[in-house]
Amino acid sequence: MSAVILDGKALGLRIEAELAERVSALKESGVEPHLAVVLAGDDPASHVYVRNKQRACERTGIKSTRVDLPNNVTQEDLMRVVANLNSDNSVHGILVQSPTPYGTDELAITEAIDPSKDVDGFHPTNLGRLVMGQVDGMLPCTPAGVMKIIEDASIDLQGKKAVVIGRSRIVGMPLALLLAQKGVDATVTIAHSRTQDIAGICRTADLVVAAIGRAEAIQAEWIKPGATVIDVGINRVADDSRESGSRLTGDIEPEAANIAGHITPVPGGVGPMTISMLMSNTVRAAELRLN
Ligand code: GUN
Repeated sequence: MSAVILDGKALGLRIEAELAERVSALKESGVEPHLAVVLAGDDPASHVYVRNKQRACERTGIKSTRVDLPNNVTQEDLMRVVANLNSDNSVHGILVQSPTPYGTDELAITEAIDPSKDVDGFHPTNLGRLVMGQVDGMLPCTPAGVMKIIEDASIDLQGKKAVVIGRSRIVGMPLALLLAQKGVDATVTIAHSRTQDIAGICRTADLVVAAIGRAEAIQAEWIKPGATVIDVGINRVADDSRESGSRLTGDIEPEAANIAGHITPVPGGVGPMTISMLMSNTVRAAELRLN
């Protein structure tokens, strides 16, 4: 393995230590940063993610409240919960864990969240601000975490070729905007399931980010020697050699670490940074309320 490992877990803990100091300062001013997490249904992965978010709240001193709702929750019930959290002045951040149960309208729920409490950064107002080049607001957590990893490693992307594989409104699209923004200045290609010759595009890219949710779909041999490789995927695959019978793997073949210059591990790369950015948005939301 020759690539430098971009340790998102360590960076996330460093960021959280800084946040804990800001949380203390807020508390001294009489404000207790407070994140409300709404978890509807019994998706096992969502329960794990929410638990990890609550643990990060504990590490940083942020108060967290969890609203558990049944799998058969109605759209009206979800909208009512969001409306109550919007009007609760003790709550600074609201997160409705995705996916919401079958039959509910996730986009409508996202739009119902007060943009100043939208710590996921998914509200059209916050995504719109990003399109307008205003990057000081609530940025979506995974793209913001990827940018922090790149910045922390002092990787210069000015004029470089970046490919973002995946065009979701949560990861791929906002990340492409952040990479192309003034000051970062990458030349960005957004690749997706209909893209022809993804291999050829990757072979010329100085930065490859994969966010497609397909285990090891991006082949190591597509990576340009020395390129930076960021793997947003977290996929569980069968592995008989493990006691658990399974293991976690990314969207990129792990052998890419033999070719890349820098690479994020899975797990321990982008995942922990997503949570640290959620904490960061929550602290910021509380600070903005104070000012
Ligand atoms: N489900 C998986 N990741 C996320 C996330 O970052 N935010 C929300 N709200 N739901 C998710």
